[in-house]
Amino acid sequence: MRTVGHLAAETLCLVASLIRPGTTTEQINEFVHQDTLKKGARPAPLNYRGGGRGPPYPKSVCTSVNEVVCHGIPGPHTLKDGDIVNVDVTHLYGGFHGDTSATFYVGRKLSEEAKRVTEVARRSLELGIQQVRPGGRLGDIGAAIQEFAEGHGCSVVRDFVGHGIGRKFHDEPKVSHYGNWGKGLRLRAGMTFTIEPMINIGGWEVELLDDEWTAVTADGSLSAQFEHTVLVTESGVEILTQRPMLLENSEIFPDYFGAAG
Ligand code: MF3
Ligand code: CO
Ligand code: CO
Repeated sequence: MRTVGHLAAETLCLVASLIRPGTTTEQINEFVHQDTLKKGARPAPLNYRGGGRGPPYPKSVCTSVNEVVCHGIPGPHTLKDGDIVNVDVTHLYGGFHGDTSATFYVGRKLSEEAKRVTEVARRSLELGIQQVRPGGRLGDIGAAIQEFAEGHGCSVVRDFVGHGIGRKFHDEPKVSHYGNWGKGLRLRAGMTFTIEPMINIGGWEVELLDDEWTAVTADGSLSAQFEHTVLVTESGVEILTQRPMLLENSEIFPDYFGAAG
């Protein structure tokens, strides 16, 4: 899990330099596909069947632009100045999965709303991760995220959740990004799961497009997301998809919430 987590994080770091006006989401897919194979890994999204009756996922990565909440399918769509785009990478290596995503800023014409939803999503994930410790509760993660996001005028998507991960891409438990302090499953050392809050600037409701994968905000408002795969350790938490370097085109407002954080 450490190895595959690191490989997925590396791919996400490398994809960062492709993010600019004019890049197509298909180019992001092509890069992620090739970089994954180069590492001896397989892109878990390609031909993935969500367990449902719908079509298999047709690409190697998810690229979710602006009002797309998650599972955006790469294609001829061109990124433009001012867009935000989440790139969600999942590698399969040695029988194990590593799942991580980040939202990137495209160009320089960033709206205040784009900054706010992206920075709230980034901080929400950090606060969720801070709740992970043996003896802690799954509900603490959701409560920390929900309190922060709603306190900053954003909403938390309900229809998609984090998930147990390991030999299976999506396993139990479901890791909800809203919830109640002190409630839910008790965390134990050795558990691995993802935390991946999807944060909207408007309402939390989502709609599914006819491709049966792309989820968009019902009100057309912006949505941002960050994801890590984490391990519950004896002493707390280990981020298995920790990035080895600063994320270009994303980690560019370190003091957004003030130096005190
Ligand atoms: N990586 C997504 C997640 O965080 C799942 C993508 S499923 C796919 O759980 F089929 F769309 F790739
Ligand atoms: Co995930
Ligand atoms: Co993911």
